[in-house]
Amino acid sequence: MDTLTAIRTRRSVRRFEDQPVEQETIRTILEAGFCAPTARNLRPWHFIVLRDMEVRRELSKAAGNLSRLVDGDCVIFVCGDREVQEREEFILEDGAAAVQNMLLAAHASGLGAVWCGIRTEKDLHEAVRRPLQLPPNILPVAFIVLGHPSEHPEPKNRYDESKVHWDRW
Ligand SMILES: Cc1cc2nc3c(=O)[nH]c(=O)nc-3n(C[C@H](O)[C@H](O)[C@H](O)COP(=O)(O)O)c2cc1C
Repeated sequence: MDTLTAIRTRRSVRRFEDQPVEQETIRTILEAGFCAPTARNLRPWHFIVLRDMEVRRELSKAAGNLSRLVDGDCVIFVCGDREVQEREEFILEDGAAAVQNMLLAAHASGLGAVWCGIRTEKDLHEAVRRPLQLPPNILPVAFIVLGHPSEHPEPKNRYDESKVHWDRW
């Protein structure tokens, strides 16, 4: 699949077949994450690949969208190291770029995936931090739920001329 086709046809997938994702495909997706641009090329990311359903079930009991952790065959947590990149806004931006690369790689590999944000409320961060044994300098940014899709949402053209500004607002 070429890049523009992948970008245009990617949709969030939230329903999955009960079928494992191959280790090699996970590696390909992670490689796509590592290809993303980062501020000052500091590459502050760490990726935690979660396959263990017991750990995921435990984590999913916490509030909010963490319930999604039990969907799909595999979850990738995207984190950033505050000791590598001190500016939190760049950790978030670097993390977001990696997430989008991985979503596109997953889609191009025939998988489905959904980006799940992690709100910065302290209790939610703590809910993730303890079971994943994150060191204090590691900031969780988002997680991606991945698997073989059992739904295939239609591509949407969201181009909106009214939101495009040339030279000035
Ligand atoms: C920062 C961010 C956080 C998101 N968090 C969630 C989430 O917690 N749960 C979820 O189901 N989808 C989540 N999404 C996916 C969006 O709902 C989805 O991208 C949006 O509805 C557009 O649909 P599409 O991805 O199919 O184009 C998130 C997307 C982004 C960019």
